[in-house]
Amino acid sequence: MLITASILSADLGRLQEEVDSLKGIADWIQVDVMDGHFVKNLTFGAPVLRCIKTSLPLDIHLMVSNPADRVQEFLEAGAKHITFHSEAVTDPAARKALIAGIKAGGATAGIALNPDTAIEEIDDVVESVDMVLVMSVVPGFSGQSFIEHVLEKVRALRDRYPKLMIQMDGGIDAKTAPLCRKAGADNLVSASFLFKAKDRAAAAASLRGA
Ligand code: DX5
Repeated sequence: MLITASILSADLGRLQEEVDSLKGIADWIQVDVMDGHFVKNLTFGAPVLRCIKTSLPLDIHLMVSNPADRVQEFLEAGAKHITFHSEAVTDPAARKALIAGIKAGGATAGIALNPDTAIEEIDDVVESVDMVLVMSVVPGFSGQSFIEHVLEKVRALRDRYPKLMIQMDGGIDAKTAPLCRKAGADNLVSASFLFKAKDRAAAAASLRGA
């Protein structure tokens, strides 16, 4: 089980300190890139990524309408994992080119599914990606409630692809994490639960099931 800390709920005025506090607690650091178009919110670009100094892998969740235009700058800024949304890139050839570009740049590639997007929508590329991200909230904001019906998709993906990395994101806390683990997720993202916890190590351990 990997625990991915999303800096969306970090104190951004002390971003480096916040990132440093996750060493030994989280496995990956996630940067939620929102363009105000694919989702309503607007967040970080590659300049922010370039400022983060960490030995933890940087996981970029691209919630943007045109991921192909953005990938190169995030690769150059140090991204280790890049996930784009299936709803943003629907053409199979464009998806394959994007995945190839991410891998050629030395990162692993993921594809994300919004809560109401069926897993069949990614049949064309599911075996080419390193990870599938199953969103358990409608992307855009941290602190939303977990949408339970997405667990069916996680179970179905796990049945079909035993070795696939399945990341879940949105509303993950000590109560919902066991449901995610049981359904077959092996990478859990948390923003508010982790960053708002008094004891971040204990919060991460509860997500991990340790
Ligand atoms: C949702 C973002 C998530 C978000 C999750 O739009 O993609 O990464 O940070 O936040 P929590 O963990 O607070 O639900």
